Amino acid sequence: MNRIDPFLEHAASQSTFDAGSTAIGVSLPHESAALHVSGEATYTDDVAELTGTLHAALGLSRHAHARIVSMDLDAVRRAPGVIAVLSAADIPGENNCGPVLHDDPILAVDEVLYLGQPVFAVIAENHELARRAASLAKSDDVVRYEPLEAVLTPAEAKARKQFVLPPLHLKRGDPDARMAAAPHRISGSFEVGGQEQFYLEGQIAYAVPKEMDGMLVYSSTQHPSEMQQVVAHMLDWPAHNVVCECRRMGGGFGGKESQSALFACIAALAAQRLRRPVKLRADRDDDFMITGKRHDAIYEYEAGFDDQGRILGARVEIALRAGYSADLSGAVATRAVCHFDNAYYLSDVDIVALCCKTNTQSNTAFRGFGGPQGALVMEVMLDSIARQLNRDPLDVRVVNYYGVGERDTTPYGQRVEDNVIAPLTDELLDTSHYRARRAALAAFNATSPVLKRGLAFSPVKFGISFNVPFLNQAGALVHVYKDGSVLVNHGGTEMGQGLNTKVAQVVANELGLPLSRVRVSATDTSKIANTSATAASTGSDLNGKAAEAAARTIRERLAELAARQLGGNAADVQFADGEVSVNGGAMPFTQLVGAAYLARVQLWSDGFYTTPRVHWDAKTLTGHPFYYFAYGAAVSEVVIDTLTGEWKLVRADVLHDAGQSINPAIDIGQVEGGFIQGMGWLTTEELWWNRDGRLMTHAPSTYKIPAVSDTPDAFNVQLYQNRNAEPTVFRSKAVGEPPLLLPFSVFLAIRDALAAAVPGAPVAPALRAPATPEAILDALDALQATVASSSTGTSTAAPTTTTATATAPTTATTGSPAATNA
Ligand code: MTE
Ligand code: HPA
Ligand code: MOS
Repeated sequence: MNRIDPFLEHAASQSTFDAGSTAIGVSLPHESAALHVSGEATYTDDVAELTGTLHAALGLSRHAHARIVSMDLDAVRRAPGVIAVLSAADIPGENNCGPVLHDDPILAVDEVLYLGQPVFAVIAENHELARRAASLAKSDDVVRYEPLEAVLTPAEAKARKQFVLPPLHLKRGDPDARMAAAPHRISGSFEVGGQEQFYLEGQIAYAVPKEMDGMLVYSSTQHPSEMQQVVAHMLDWPAHNVVCECRRMGGGFGGKESQSALFACIAALAAQRLRRPVKLRADRDDDFMITGKRHDAIYEYEAGFDDQGRILGARVEIALRAGYSADLSGAVATRAVCHFDNAYYLSDVDIVALCCKTNTQSNTAFRGFGGPQGALVMEVMLDSIARQLNRDPLDVRVVNYYGVGERDTTPYGQRVEDNVIAPLTDELLDTSHYRARRAALAAFNATSPVLKRGLAFSPVKFGISFNVPFLNQAGALVHVYKDGSVLVNHGGTEMGQGLNTKVAQVVANELGLPLSRVRVSATDTSKIANTSATAASTGSDLNGKAAEAAARTIRERLAELAARQLGGNAADVQFADGEVSVNGGAMPFTQLVGAAYLARVQLWSDGFYTTPRVHWDAKTLTGHPFYYFAYGAAVSEVVIDTLTGEWKLVRADVLHDAGQSINPAIDIGQVEGGFIQGMGWLTTEELWWNRDGRLMTHAPSTYKIPAVSDTPDAFNVQLYQNRNAEPTVFRSKAVGEPPLLLPFSVFLAIRDALAAAVPGAPVAPALRAPATPEAILDALDALQATVASSSTGTSTAAPTTTTATATAPTTATTGSPAATNA
């Protein structure tokens, strides 16, 4: 074509994208990449503050559990710069910001349930003065408490049967009988810690009062519709009075699925009372102290298996720390139950999940949403089984895999119809040279007294969809302006994962335009109503389809006009490279749009999508909760120092199934990020509360997330060539959360190195997670003690096999004292 489109040229010079590239499946940069790195990206705190803006800070509880005897906030009111101090009595509507059960007070009334709970809010002229005044909450003269008995650990809560929700129980077959008849058995306990989301941008909201009882809330949230709803309930207003907007988050990771609500509510409450704009930006330490994290868990398990290590019957109890309130714990526990199987067929199984009520922060969504907690214990069990049989854990994993057309029904009754785990495994073993490296490692360990290497493989199967079926819906709005430029709005939120880029690619492709002509606007509850959280990895599946539908409606209207003008059938009209062609004729998209406007053709449309096939019976814990599964696997190699407990990930090979990827660069970024984030959970990130229930690890000084130097020198991440068996958007697969489970292989490789360090040990290493240097040394001590007390001696290099006739269950894995004393 020899026509020059000035818009296109201009857009190309402005855009980070190559003009003309509408391609799906092409590695295009994140839509805001240039803004991220230049610092120009607007986060909530960067929204220009209006004149008269005030700043809020929260006064926090000093006790894990106490009765509020009296509150005298006069001293706080008299503090410099303070405009107002608000307590629960100032809330005109419902004092709740909880998402499911209404058991989350915005500000405490009568009783505090955890140390860090907001008791009052200070509104001051600036952020610093607000914080100074709020810190008066530490004084006994301001809030007087009568301490009550606090329950601080899941083990204690379990012993007292103190739960936020009734236990979940899923049983299939007769696991007790199968275990009793099995040739081999293991039983044990295990524990895994929680994890702070540690989004780089902390929780923040900026509320601006509008005319006629209106409120605009800028919120860093994964769930604008819920922020709108809780603010409306709190103010006793109809929802249409409140607008919530979010252009982007500097990370959410689940931590802003429900728990952005407290901040949105306080900012909006203050803005409504004072009729001035109010910003609440939590300091990092306050963010740690106030908000919930990934659920930590303690486990009790048992399994019976055959000589190959194939599980014949299994039982697990997963006791999750819910914290003081329910929040999303019910759905998290359900996902844990539905991921215990991971990639393995379990014919006879009994799974219990408990949501333990403790006087600590209310735990919430975190990438994987209970899935990692469910699957990790299975991987630990399989590792122990393999060590008991003296087999390579890889081989034990593979014999337990779901089959294709047989052994393919999950414990919750959904058939696994898209299973690619076996070919994916084969490909990864090949490219990572697993077998050859296993031999090389043995040789290294035989001659290295202090440094020991470990190698492990682990697979992932992760269910995609919200496990609450009605949440699987999304809407979008596409505007084509007269000049041919396109604006897309959808219900999803951008948190760095690249959702807006993918949605823009889908719309650009549908209209045959270069990406530079499509702009995605901020998420806004006044544009798309009643949206679900951007969560469960479903963002691009849901919003991509909704936006595709909206763009398709516009395209069909345009195609009709083009056929009228150029001749031919509407169905034959092609949209590509900014041109519309049919019947041998062509015209620029812009020209057609201009003509459509004059012909009074509607140039904007909505689109709506609901995920097919999903259903769930919450009573029996059965159904078809997931539209499809995403798969992946990883091989990790570590080296540990047996004198200090230090370790390093030397190499990781990852093969992950993102279906037919819409944007491989973004998907690989998600896989790499998820892997490293999961590795942090299982190794360095340790939450520690003191005896008073005070979280002592509440800043990067005491809570260690991975640094760039923790990525392995050899980090080979590939996408598995696959196509979603279901007709998702371009047959892609969700990729946000599943990769978080890939670094199970890192944890298992540390176990492997520990086993290599004590060759004569009669049991598998008892390593708790996170595998900090302390945990590694504890496990080493425990393992060495088993050798010392074992009559088999320590001279053989090969691990001692527990004989096949063992009748008494071998305690394969013991957690830390906290878990075993449970
Ligand atoms: N990636 C970045 N960069 N930042 C995030 O906060 N959140 C994760 C994942 N990847 C997150 C991320 C979580 S918890 C989810 S559920 C998905 O992204 C949500 O986005 P998606 O559904 O659009 O993939
Ligand atoms: N993931 C995230 N959030 C959710 C889910 C889920 O599976 N179910 C309900 N809320
Ligand atoms: Mo992700 S934990 O579902 O926000």
